[in-house]
Amino acid sequence: MDINNHIKKVLFTEPEINERCIELASELDKEYEDKKPIMLSLLKGSVPFATMLTKHMKISLEFDYMKASSYHGTISSGNVAVTLMPSLKLENRHVVIIEDIIDTGTTLSTVTKILQDLHPASLEIVTLLDKPAMRKVNDIKPKYVGFIVPNEFVVGFGLDFNEDYRHLPYVGVLKEEMYK
Ligand code: XMP
Ligand code: MG
Repeated sequence: MDINNHIKKVLFTEPEINERCIELASELDKEYEDKKPIMLSLLKGSVPFATMLTKHMKISLEFDYMKASSYHGTISSGNVAVTLMPSLKLENRHVVIIEDIIDTGTTLSTVTKILQDLHPASLEIVTLLDKPAMRKVNDIKPKYVGFIVPNEFVVGFGLDFNEDYRHLPYVGVLKEEMYK
């Protein structure tokens, strides 16, 4: 019954993620001082990370949300659908995309192209997790990365398997029998 038993191993605990968020927030504070960036959280997976990251930021900023999905089950499908666009005007603004995980890079490649057409002053990516071994595109290089993860299916802290497990307070590897 307890979904914690579906986890093979915990990779990053909540205090570890919090510590990393403090470091990333201070880098972002320095880079975006006096720039009032738009922190653009990609729904739904990046919400816990966006919350924890930005609560440590001390500069002025604005929040926005966008939704793009490419993922069904445990394999990245490559078909990216944007179902919600940002509500703020991004033209001439400094935009920081907040993502939960970069896998093949297909999602962010599509999102980046769409956002570039709106002519932001700058566009960077902060991602909680990066799986560089899985990359299929070469145009996605996140400037800010929380943790590198091995090529295993991870859940928790926003990351889901078929919409469940997002509410786990840590990032862990899902037992294979849960999706096989
Ligand atoms: P791409 O391949 O476009 O995929 O970079 C990014 C999206 O795929 C999802 N994804 C995962 N979700 N555990 C998850 O829960 C994983 O290990 C994983 N790998 C990729 C995620 O939604 C991300 O936005
Ligand atoms: Mg996602």
